[in-house]
Amino acid sequence: MAAEKPLVSVTCTAPTNIAVIKYWGKRDEKLILPINSSLSVTLHQNQLKTTTTAAISRDFKEDRIWLNGKEEDVGHHRLQSCLREIRRLARKRRSGSDGDLVPLSYKVHIASVNDFPTAAGLASSAAGYACLVYTLAQLYGVESELSEVARQGSGSACRSMFGGFVQWHMGERPDGKDSIAQQVAPESHWPELRVLVLVVSAERKPVSSTSGMQTSVETSSLLKTSGHTPILLPSVLALDSWIISENWLIALQFRAESVVPGRMAEMARCIKERDFEAFGQLTMKDSNQFHATCLDTFPPICYLNDTSRQIISLVHCFNAYYGKTKVAYTFDAGPNAVIFTLEETVDEFVAVIKQVFPPEMNGDKFLKGLPVEPVELSEEVKSALPMEPFPGGIRYIITTQVGPGPQVLEEPQRQLLGPDGLPKPVS
Ligand code: DP6
Repeated sequence: MAAEKPLVSVTCTAPTNIAVIKYWGKRDEKLILPINSSLSVTLHQNQLKTTTTAAISRDFKEDRIWLNGKEEDVGHHRLQSCLREIRRLARKRRSGSDGDLVPLSYKVHIASVNDFPTAAGLASSAAGYACLVYTLAQLYGVESELSEVARQGSGSACRSMFGGFVQWHMGERPDGKDSIAQQVAPESHWPELRVLVLVVSAERKPVSSTSGMQTSVETSSLLKTSGHTPILLPSVLALDSWIISENWLIALQFRAESVVPGRMAEMARCIKERDFEAFGQLTMKDSNQFHATCLDTFPPICYLNDTSRQIISLVHCFNAYYGKTKVAYTFDAGPNAVIFTLEETVDEFVAVIKQVFPPEMNGDKFLKGLPVEPVELSEEVKSALPMEPFPGGIRYIITTQVGPGPQVLEEPQRQLLGPDGLPKPVS
């Protein structure tokens, strides 16, 4: 029986995701219920992932957690929500018969590591909480409602519970039971799609997503007004939009109510039909609207820096040169750019990036991830590029693709906790 073993442990990995229709703003801070639905692409774990080991033993005195080798406060309310929910679901599922399953009264030790910069706008909390919830679920034998639990760790984490293309339905219920993630298409659906993560800065972000979106909800009239400063919008029926008439509506939540619902439907269509032109344009527009909302927050939040803005110009210039959308950018709560493109464009666009942002120190470590072939740019393309070279602006590029959801690791050597239940020394 499991309880007689000194230590029972499970190790899993989970992916990060990048939103193409952004989540920004909560209607319930505690349950993490959003004011709008969102849609994301799960990135491949061969390049970016979190690994977590969770173990239980009769000998453990208390729940403990180590993140990237450092012990953290296990009392953090989001961590507690996830632990409590998984234990509650496990209890519900067992309803009295413990059988071969691990005892719920035993304390748990958790160790988790990211293989990418934490809190640099690369959705580390998404992969982290998705991995935590998935690993605990494996340990306690829980199978259902996992995205609902991961959401209570970090909103974007619920989307990392699936591979491929994933939507998070905002839901309507006050208890959040319908605020869940669902796969729109599997990772195999669009095999030519590529993702380049341009790491501009590995610094921690100045304002966390959690506090940034809270101030936006309170102050930005582009996102959501509090009711006393409504913005007026012409109804779609008003042909002469400058005449104030009964056709004007009061939009109390401009982005959340008037923009996102239409964009969710359109984005799902772009993905289903593999329409890169429309997918890329909508991705860029939604990223821009999210950053406009941040700038409309008071005091304003600026996640983009000069390099981010240069990347935006470069993408538009490259697309204008070809007369179509061949590359698209999106930025989360940080200056790093995530570029979507098709396999056929990767080598040339990376050469363009190297031309404008010549690698400074780490020439050989500049390109990580999937292989990229060197390309000689034509003089015509070079002269179409808008700016002077900016050495060192981009630290490195991670080339990746759409990937699967969380996985269980069977190999014992990949466990992060030793037989004593403490983190193994980093080799
Ligand atoms: C800009 O999920 O990190 O990346 O729910 O407070 O943990 P919390 O916030 P988080 O916010 C992500 C915001 C975003 C957009 C997105 O991923 O949809």
